[in-house]
Amino acid sequence: MNANKALWEKGDFTRIAESMRESGEALVGDLGITDGLQVLDLGCGDGTTALPAARLGADVLGVDIASNLVAAGNARAEALGLTSCTFQEGDASDLRELGDGRFDLVVSIFGAMFAPKPFDVAKEMDRVTRHGGRIVMGNWIPNDPTLVAQILKISSSYAPPPPEGFVSPMTWGMEDQVIERFAQAGVPEEGISFERDTYTFNYPGAPSELVAEFRSYYGPTMNAFEAAAANGREAELQTELDTLFNEQNTSEDATSIPATFLRVTVTR
Ligand SMILES: C[S@@+](CC[C@H](N)C(=O)[O-])C[C@H]1O[C@@H](n2cnc3c(N)ncnc32)[C@H](O)[C@@H]1O
Repeated sequence: MNANKALWEKGDFTRIAESMRESGEALVGDLGITDGLQVLDLGCGDGTTALPAARLGADVLGVDIASNLVAAGNARAEALGLTSCTFQEGDASDLRELGDGRFDLVVSIFGAMFAPKPFDVAKEMDRVTRHGGRIVMGNWIPNDPTLVAQILKISSSYAPPPPEGFVSPMTWGMEDQVIERFAQAGVPEEGISFERDTYTFNYPGAPSELVAEFRSYYGPTMNAFEAAAANGREAELQTELDTLFNEQNTSEDATSIPATFLRVTVTR
């Protein structure tokens, strides 16, 4: 059993992705996408960034480890009549079916960071990007006080300790780690730039309803509730998450929660 794949196929990430569409579109609008640009969206989910990129004229391949999300992405592309956007199953740490230098732009927004073997991920992203091309990653930041870093921190505090050798996905939010991983892939530090950016989670209901979506559909939170239930700590976890979502909500009559991430741009 591939635990990484099982985690993301467990729930239904499309339910969470619904709250991320505006930010996905805004981020893609900022990437200088032009007609015919060859784009790989790695860990693409159901296409929050892949579909807007295709709408701007790019030829987009979305690759994701979760078969349910690949199917959802293809269904969304078909419904929108976007023939220049296709989704297929694959693992960010092993993209052997994709040729060297095939893409002008490799995008991975909170995607490749969740793949194990981060050095292999950096190597593969670099390999499939053409000389002169770019890699853009969005990575959550460890110990950041905003929403997603806190959800993952709280969730992991209820889960059993990870297996030996496990590398936390959050390490992709640390600049020195990113530099080291791309250095091993042959990318010099001067080719990497970092900035803090914001994704806003928008949901039409109350914050506690968005917590319920995470509890029912977001793999890492589902696992945390299962582990908490085994220790009689479900109510405690629920309260922690309700408090977090309510405290960070900026909307009066719905839910709007900004979350900070590290935006990494690699120029080859
Ligand atoms: C937080 S979701 C983000 C999805 C999408 N990029 C978005 O912005 O909505 C993380 C995604 O990474 C995918 N993923 C996790 N591990 C992966 C791996 N090893 N290779 C490819 N995709 C992976 C998951 O299936 C999931 O779709």
